[in-house]
Amino acid sequence: MDFLLCPVCKSELTRQDRSFVCEKGHCFDIAKEGYVNLLTGSKSGDSIGDNKDMARSRKAFLDKGYFSSLSDALCNTAESLHPKTVLDICCGEGYYAEKIADNLNCSVYGFDLSKEMIRLAAKRKSRAEFFVANMAGIPIADGSIDCAIHLFAPFCEKEFLRVIKPGGYLISVSPGAKHLWEMKAAIYEKPYENEENSPSLPGFSLEKAINAVSHITLTDSNDIESLFKMTPYYYHTSAQDKAKLLSLDTLTTCVDFYIRIYRKD
Ligand SMILES: C[S@@+](CC[C@H](N)C(=O)[O-])C[C@H]1O[C@@H](n2cnc3c(N)ncnc32)[C@H](O)[C@@H]1O
Ligand SMILES: [Zn+2]
Repeated sequence: MDFLLCPVCKSELTRQDRSFVCEKGHCFDIAKEGYVNLLTGSKSGDSIGDNKDMARSRKAFLDKGYFSSLSDALCNTAESLHPKTVLDICCGEGYYAEKIADNLNCSVYGFDLSKEMIRLAAKRKSRAEFFVANMAGIPIADGSIDCAIHLFAPFCEKEFLRVIKPGGYLISVSPGAKHLWEMKAAIYEKPYENEENSPSLPGFSLEKAINAVSHITLTDSNDIESLFKMTPYYYHTSAQDKAKLLSLDTLTTCVDFYIRIYRKD
């Protein structure tokens, strides 16, 4: 990771043994799992971002391959852009970064605000490299990334624009109209389709927007609960409505991923 910047003074970080160090002597140790924590301040990333339970549940679900239609579409899309460097913004527990590292001949990096997510990502022992950071101030040099991927995460387009090379790409993914339709129908009387937005991002042009749509069947109530926990509905649904879904031991549902490819001008 030769483009990392010191989060304190913004000068270059260089690797020295088990640490990254800047010219002013700020030092960030590499954890035993192999990642570096570049968050500053009293919060070390233990208590912010997604928590341990969410991280483990997400990993357990994704590792079963239920969202492989998305990882396949993502790898094919990224490969067609011939990147030398890919950055997974808000990479979570590293499932997609690992798939890109396994399938593309390029350097892959990922970061997330949650230390637990990054700990799990680094433990995958893939070729991808990980750091803990806030996307509001991504600690990497301007124009150092050929292709950034950004899945189910908040936006910070100013920082995305800064770190991507001119002519480089941003692949952003959010739920498509019919995503988890049958799961929602099992809970709510009147489910709504998701809105598909392609926000115009200053400094980027939208090149393409596609949907990757398929159906998955979950045959285990734990998997149904894990999937539900990955959605915002989990936190806004009554106990009574939750129970309707959690009493099922099998569920076939649509997965619809809305994939937008932006190019930096
Ligand atoms: C819904 S999860 C998606 C994770 C991953 N992209 C995936 O699809 O599996 C959203 C992620 O964004 C991270 N996140 C939220 N705010 C962030 C921020 N300001 N900087 C970096 N990561 C952030 C959370 O910790 C969480 O891992
Ligand atoms: Zn420094």
